[in-house]
Amino acid sequence: MSREPGHVWVDGEILPAAAPHVSVSDRGFQLGDGIFETLRARRGRVTELAEHLARLHRSADGLGIELEAGTDDRIAGGIAALLAAEALDGADADASIRITVTRGAWSGRGLLPPAGGLRPTIAIQAWPVGPPPPGHLEVGLHLVASAVRRDPENPLATLKTTSRADYVHARLEARRAGADDALFLTLDGHLSEATSANLFLVRGRGLTTPDLACAILPGTTRSWILEWGRRAGLEVLESWLTTRDLAEADEAFLCSSVAGILPVTSFEGRPIGTGAPGPWTLRARRDREAFIAGGAVP
Ligand SMILES: Cc1ncc(COP(=O)(O)O)c(C=O)c1O
Repeated sequence: MSREPGHVWVDGEILPAAAPHVSVSDRGFQLGDGIFETLRARRGRVTELAEHLARLHRSADGLGIELEAGTDDRIAGGIAALLAAEALDGADADASIRITVTRGAWSGRGLLPPAGGLRPTIAIQAWPVGPPPPGHLEVGLHLVASAVRRDPENPLATLKTTSRADYVHARLEARRAGADDALFLTLDGHLSEATSANLFLVRGRGLTTPDLACAILPGTTRSWILEWGRRAGLEVLESWLTTRDLAEADEAFLCSSVAGILPVTSFEGRPIGTGAPGPWTLRARRDREAFIAGGAVP
C-alpha cells in the first residue's frame, strides 16, 4: 500500500507534508547530528512506545543531545495527533511511525555545537503499513555480507543515530548483488545485524542471536523474541556467532518493529536449512503480529 503522507508533526504543529519544515542550518541536515526511532501502531495503539522512548533517550544521551522535561509526553501527543490527521487510528489501521530528533538549527560553521546547547528539532512522520513485499514471507530473504565492517568498540555503534551512510551503502550493495538486504560483520568477522533489523538463528531447539556487544542496535523486537523463545521452550542464547553458524542453521530470520519477523533463506547465494522459511520463524511472526494487534500470545 503506498499512500503519500498528507501531514507531518514538527515541533508541536501538524503541517502539510509537502511544506518545507526544517532549516537548512539544522545539524541533522548538515551533519547527520540526530537520532531516530521507528515504531508500529495498530488501531492507533503504539507498540512498545515506552521501550522506544527509552532507547531515544539513550541515543540522545550518547550524542549529548539534551531533551527537555516533558519531551516524551509531547512526542506521545504528537503521534496521536498525527495518526488522527492521517486517518491511521481507525479500527483497521496499521501504521509505521518515525520520530526524528536532531540537535537543532545552528547558523555557525563547524562540527562543535555551541556550548550552551541548541533547541532540538523534533519531527514525527507516519505511513500506512502494507503486507510484506511479494516473496518475503513465502520465499524468504536473500542476504549478502556488506563490505562495511562494524566496530564493537565504537561507542556510537549501538545508538540509533541519523548518520546512516554506512547502512545506505550496505543496502545499495545488497541491491547491486540482487539480494534483499546486507548483513554487517564485526571487524573480526562475527555476525552483527542487518541494515535495519536484528538477526536470529534457529538450530534444533536452540535460538541464538548476536550478543549486544557485537555492535548491534539493542532492538525492541529482539528483546521480545528472547522472551518469546524462552516461553516457547527454546534454549535461548545471546552469543558471538560466525558465518559458519549461519550456514549451519536450520532457520534464520530478521526482526524489527515495522517489518516484524521475516525469514532469511539464503546467505551469499547458499541456502540456509531447507532453503524455505522455517516453522519457528513463521510461528514467531504469527505470535508477534498477534501481540502487535493487541491479542494474547500463547
Ligand atoms: C540497525 C538496526 N538494527 C535493528 C533494528 C531493530 O530494532 P527494533 O526491533 O527496535 O525495531 C533496527 C530498527 O530499525 C535497526 O535500524
